[in-house]
Amino acid sequence: MKSFFVLASLAACALAQRMHIQAPTPGQTVTGNGTLTVELEQDQSLGPLRQTSVLIAMNNCFDVCDQPDQWSPGIILYNGDFNPQFNASAPQKGHYQDFVLQLPGFQPGPAVIQVAHQYAGGGATLTNVFDYATVQVTVQ
Ligand SMILES: *[C@@H]1O[C@H](CO)[C@@H](O)[C@H](O)[C@H]1NC(C)=O
Ligand SMILES: *[C@@H]1O[C@H](CO)[C@@H](O)[C@H](O)[C@H]1NC(C)=O
Repeated sequence: MKSFFVLASLAACALAQRMHIQAPTPGQTVTGNGTLTVELEQDQSLGPLRQTSVLIAMNNCFDVCDQPDQWSPGIILYNGDFNPQFNASAPQKGHYQDFVLQLPGFQPGPAVIQVAHQYAGGGATLTNVFDYATVQVTVQ
C-alpha cells in the first residue's frame, strides 16, 4: 500500500512537469500563410528540470483530425531550444515562451499543431523524458 502511494505521487510529480500549449486555443482561426504565435507553458516542478528542446509542427488534417494515425507528416515550423521564462508583467502565465512562426501556406480547413518536447527531469538523478501536446485550429 505504501509503495502504491509513492508511485502515485511520483506519477503526479511527473504530470506536474508537463508542457502545455496556451496559444493558439482550440478552434482558433489562423491565416494559412500568415504568422502564428505559439505560446508554450512549462509547469514548474519541485525537483530539478533541465530543458532540452521543443519541436513545433503543423499539418492540415481535414476529415481525419480525430484519427492521429491518419495524419500526414507535419511541416516543421520550429525545432530548437525551449527556454520558458517567468514574466513579471504576466504572472498568471507562469513560465512560458512565445514562438512567432511564419506559416508556409496551409489549405483552408482544419489543421493540427503538434508539439513534442524533450527535457530532463526527475529526482536525485535526471532522466531524459518526453511529452507531447496538440491543438486543432481552423485555417481560413
Ligand atoms: C496569403 O494568401 C492570400 C490568399 O491567397 C494572398 O492574397 C496574400 O497575398 C498572401 N500573403 C502572403 C504574405 O503571402
Ligand atoms: C511580458 O508580458 C507583457 C504583458 O503581457 C508583454 O507585453 C511583454 O512582451 C512580455 N515580455 C516578454 C519578454 O515576453
